[in-house]
Amino acid sequence: MAIEFNPMSDIDCEDPFSVYKRLRDEAPVHWSAEDEMFCVSRYSDVLTVLKEDELFSSSGTMTVLLRSIEVPINLRYGWKLLRFLLKTRISPFRIARAGNLITMDRPRHDVLRRIVGRGFTPRRIAEWEPRIRELVNERIVDLRSGERFDVVGDLASPLPTMIISEMLGIEPSRRDDFRRWSRSIIEVASGLSDPRTSDVMEHLGELFAYLQGIIRARRKQPRDDLISVLVDPRQEGVLDELDVIQFVVLLLVAGNETTTNLIGNAVHALIDRPDQIELLVREPERIENLVEEAVRFDGPLQFLFRSATRDTELAGVKIPKGSIVAAMVSSANRDERRFEDPDRFDITRDTSGHLGFGFGIHFCLGAALARLESRVALGALLPELKGFVRVEKQPERLETFLLRGRARLELEAA
Ligand code: HEM
Repeated sequence: MAIEFNPMSDIDCEDPFSVYKRLRDEAPVHWSAEDEMFCVSRYSDVLTVLKEDELFSSSGTMTVLLRSIEVPINLRYGWKLLRFLLKTRISPFRIARAGNLITMDRPRHDVLRRIVGRGFTPRRIAEWEPRIRELVNERIVDLRSGERFDVVGDLASPLPTMIISEMLGIEPSRRDDFRRWSRSIIEVASGLSDPRTSDVMEHLGELFAYLQGIIRARRKQPRDDLISVLVDPRQEGVLDELDVIQFVVLLLVAGNETTTNLIGNAVHALIDRPDQIELLVREPERIENLVEEAVRFDGPLQFLFRSATRDTELAGVKIPKGSIVAAMVSSANRDERRFEDPDRFDITRDTSGHLGFGFGIHFCLGAALARLESRVALGALLPELKGFVRVEKQPERLETFLLRGRARLELEAA
């Protein structure tokens, strides 16, 4: 029987992996008629799509995102857009022309990546470890005193936004605003709220106006923060105002919900496996591998999207120029042709080669930061987990085709 699978419309959030296995075995390059895209599910083919960046363009990411958030064209939205443009005084033509790192191809991608990469060097990221540790310790006080604790709401969700706001150099008095703006942008971008009813346009306008002020101030008087690095006139190549703002929005969208769900998914997997918790508490140096195994086994991002720049063929299936291709990284990470017994969560396995942070020129810019935050958070949580159980057997899942995670993950003393 032919497989019915449309990634954007009818994904089974509880168990997408059974249909992924069928796809890998029976239709490794599957045409989704409803979503009009080719779904590539085997490890080796997903790797080809990500590697061949000239043949598979990242402009496909933008096409699918716009489709999925259903940008509403109506009078109320038009009015919001106009107010946004008036507030930021940015030309709509300039916005349309400006690209975003994650949706750009070479050579522009590489130029931009070199500039923003200056803010994400291993040294710069490692410097944040003490501050991350401090924040994590503050947030798990309730858990340590044996009270009910929501891993997502109390720790995994606030942590990445707090860290990114401090890295960017947002003043303490505006951090609550920054978190509010971030929340609505993240929710719309990841399909968790509807742009027609959300205040995202107002919040984008406030964020843009606020960042414009910061950028101008840092140009005149640099500080030791990420925005200063991006506009440092002593460096070769700097970003203009709109590029910086677009990049900050990308960091919010790409870096927050993903890290939150990685921490949540790792705890969710561990809570049923006390033997692995015990091993990690005895040998904490294994936490790095726990993070990689969590990304492989139940990574936050399910698909990456590309568009074919010319007619091509993959696993014997013809892909016409312009087609959207969904590279199913979460299926690739469970491919039995690449990982032995892939449905087993095992913190001792060799996870090298997993595609949870992508591959090639778009490999996750924030991987070192995500790994550090997760390592510190999980390291602090683990010794406390023993003796705790989930409040709900099946905590509510995020209602989005793109991300895997839970809206909350409450624990209570057994
Ligand atoms: C567990 C957490 C994370 C996961 C699973 C993840 C995953 C990914 C993946 C798969 C890509 C490749 C996208 C593609 O090829 O189309 C990517 C790109 C990217 N990620 Fe992450 N990410 C995480 C955390 C972060 C964080 C913390 C940041 C920054 C604060 C970040 C910033 C970015 C950026 C800027 C890109 C675009 C890179 C480029 O296009 O050159 N990510 N991420």
